[in-house]
This record gives sequence, C-alpha cells and structure tokens, in this order.
Amino acid sequence: MFSPLAEIEAKTARVVVIGIGYVGLPLALELARAGFRCTGLDTDAEKVRQLNAGRSYIPDVAASDLAPYVSERRLDATCDPAVLGEAHVVIVCVPTPLNKTKDPDMRFIVDAADEIARHQHDGMLVILESTTYPGATSEVLVPKLTARGQMLGRTIFVAFSPERVDPGNQVYKTRNTPKVLGGATPECLRVASRLYAQIIEQLVPVSSTETAELVKLLENTFRAVNIGLVNEIAMMSRKLGVDAFEVIRAAATKPFGFLPFFPGPGLGGHCIPIDPLYLSWKLRTLHCQARFIELADSVNSGMPAYVVERTSEALNDQEKPVRGSKILIYGVAYKRNVNDCRESPAFPIIYGLEQRGARVSYMDPFVPRADLNGVARDSVALDADFGLFDAVVVVTDHDALDRARLARQARLVVDTRDALHDITRDRAKIYGL
Ligand SMILES: NC(=O)c1ccc[n+]([C@@H]2O[C@H](COP(=O)([O-])OP(=O)(O)OC[C@H]3O[C@@H](n4cnc5c(N)ncnc54)[C@H](O)[C@@H]3O)[C@@H](O)[C@H]2O)c1
Repeated sequence: MFSPLAEIEAKTARVVVIGIGYVGLPLALELARAGFRCTGLDTDAEKVRQLNAGRSYIPDVAASDLAPYVSERRLDATCDPAVLGEAHVVIVCVPTPLNKTKDPDMRFIVDAADEIARHQHDGMLVILESTTYPGATSEVLVPKLTARGQMLGRTIFVAFSPERVDPGNQVYKTRNTPKVLGGATPECLRVASRLYAQIIEQLVPVSSTETAELVKLLENTFRAVNIGLVNEIAMMSRKLGVDAFEVIRAAATKPFGFLPFFPGPGLGGHCIPIDPLYLSWKLRTLHCQARFIELADSVNSGMPAYVVERTSEALNDQEKPVRGSKILIYGVAYKRNVNDCRESPAFPIIYGLEQRGARVSYMDPFVPRADLNGVARDSVALDADFGLFDAVVVVTDHDALDRARLARQARLVVDTRDALHDITRDRAKIYGL
C-alpha cells in the first residue's frame, strides 16, 4: 500500500488546493497554519498573483493572517498544474454552477480531475469539496483516477467532504465548523480523516461519498425550501393585510419546533439557488421528481419580478409612472456585509425596472463597481441624498446602511428586508414585500 498517512501525520505532506476562491483560500490558509506546505492551483492568474504577494481578495481572510505564511513560503499559489506531481494531498474546490438549462455544469470538476490524473502518482489523497450531486465523486472522479489500474484505498485515496463556509459569519470559520466526510472506501475515509483532524475541531464521518454529497444538498435544500415557504407567506400576508416579518418574529419566540427564516427579494450566492437543482437533476435521471425543490425554486426565482411589481405599485400610489422614475437599489451583493454578487437578485430587479423604463442606479459599500446586465457601472456615492430618487429599493441590508437617514430623506422605500422596521413609525412611504 502507498499511503500518504505518514506524511500527513508528520505534516510533511505537500498539499495542493485546486481553486483558491471563497472556499479554497480559507482552507489553504488553515492548512498552512497547521504546518503543512500548501500551494493553491488556480487558472485565475490574478488570484495567484495576489496570494503570492501576501494579499487577500476574500473579505473573510485578512491579509495580515495570510502574509506570514506566504513569506515563510508555507503558502503560495501557481497556475502551473505540474505542482500536482509533488502533491501528497489534493483538495478540489472549483465552482459547480448550472448551465443555461439549469442542469449541473460539471466542466470545472472534470477539468480538475483530468489535470490530477495527468500528474497522478501512487499514494495520493484526492478530496472533492465542491458541492455536487450524489454519485459525482464515484461516477466522475474515481473512474479518472483509477483508469490506469490504480487501486482505490491502496494506491489512490478518494473522499468527498462538503465545504460549509458561511461568508461573513464572525463565529463559525473553517476550524470550528464540524466537517462531514465520506470515503470511497473505509481506508480512504481513514486517511482523509487524519488530514482534516489536523485543521478541524470536529469531524463527522459518514458511510460513503454519496452520503456526504447528499448531506450538503439536504442542508441547502432545507434552506431553499424554508425560504420559499416564507416568501409565499409574505405574499399571502400582504393579501391578508398582515406584516409577515412581525408574524415570523412572533412565531420565533416559540422555544421549540420552529426555526425562523425570513422572506426577501430572491435567492443569491453560489449555493442556495443552485445546489438543490443538482439534486433535482440527479433525481430526474432516476425518473423521480423532487417536488419540494422545484416548487421552492419556482417561488424563489419569482421574487425579483414580484419586487419589480411592488415597486411599480408603490410608485403608482404616489401617482408616478415607473417610466422615467429615478430608482436607487441599495445593495447589489447577494447578502449582508459581503461583496459577492453571484446570482444576486439585484440584477433581475434592475433589469426588470429598466425594462419598464426606470432610470436605475445602485449604492453598495462593498461593491464600488458592478456589471449591471452587461454594462459596468459605479456605485453612487455612499453619502448621496436618498431624497434625489423617486424610490429606494432595499435589496441588501448591509450594516453600513444609515437606516435613520434613509427613513428621513427617502420619498419612497421598498423595503424587501424589513430593514426599517424599528426605525420609523411613519410607514406611509415604506412598502414591504
Ligand atoms: N462560496 C460559498 O459560500 C460556498 C460555500 C460552500 C460550498 N461552496 C462550494 O464550493 C465550491 C467552490 O465555490 P467558491 O465559492 O469557492 O468558488 P470561487 O469561484 O470563489 O472559486 C473557485 C476557483 O476555482 C478556480 N478554478 C476553476 N476551474 C479550475 C481549474 N480547472 N483549475 C484550477 N482552478 C480552477 C477559479 O478560477 C476560482 O478561483 C463550489 O462547488 C461551491 O458550491 C461554496
């Protein structure tokens, strides 16, 4: 048996993290901190340049944390896949988006697997962390890594361990978030567990890679479905003349059996809008329908259009047409206090309002410049007078939003996050979902 166990235990194992984005960079830092020599392999030359200069491009990773390991040469980055030839451990953290028909786009995992296979040698541990459908590790990764007669659990070790990073979370980071992992064989699990035990406080081993893959999809489906439920409750509440946020906050006082989720302008980010569709796609290949997932997707992906409609109604109440109105979108990042705009509902909302003839600008302290439906635009100044706009739509409730100033200056607010609920009693110009 050629196992990397001895090198892992001695921390002499050379680790390569493929994909040093939101997931890969914090992980690479944690490995370097634990004493491993860790190299990030990425196709993005700019990220490689930044990391090698000791600079961080991910808000959750402070440059002051990175820099000492970079100068000690314990952490570096490269675009050259040849580094894989020196690796005892390879961890794959590449994107797993959807294609235009909302089916899994596996090309990044396939490319990474092909690259590993080209530089493969006996005794490698390969772990997939990218979120994917149940069966992907055994159907996509394992065949490529055993194609030339390598023996699973003897000369090549393969595991799946989903990443649970929550960007912006000040309490739970890589080290103190329990980590689920499943091995392609019991020996694969044993070797992968020894690696993670060096950097993670609590491990949660499960019986197979498929189980670990489904754990991640359950976690994110749970969120997508619950958000779909409260988004529908928000629309029902409006018909009933009731404030959905007040209902949810009151329900959340129940000390057992209820978990609060809050409605909003639509899902965003790389996970919740996408991951459940990996599961429903897999189920379709087995002639089954994932009904909750499809229903939640339909409700959640309808929210941006609903916000456009609410904004039009609110302007109408003030005897203003949408066409020609000046509208400010507050927040284009997909969630509070981050700069990540992937899948942000702000973009379809802006598109929908512009389709109706509105003149739309945005303000976001985390996103000074954004590609708005194909055109690069700058955030308006953060101290701009909210009263210059016919309406302000709060899409993302960053902590930096001066809520009192917004309530005072704005002529009309469409508050999709209930950001102003404890700021003003004057609700006449404030519209909820
Ligand atoms: N961002 C999150 O909050 C989060 C949380 C949990 C899980 N995930 C999952 O983790 C995975 C990675 O997500 P992310 O947010 O870190 O993505 P990201 O886009 O921030 O980073 C991925 C990196 O991989 C690089 N890359 C792509 N193909 C490559 C290749 N063949 N070789 C080398 N580098 C390559 C890209 O250039 C990019 O830098 C996804 O599957 C995602 O669903 C993300």
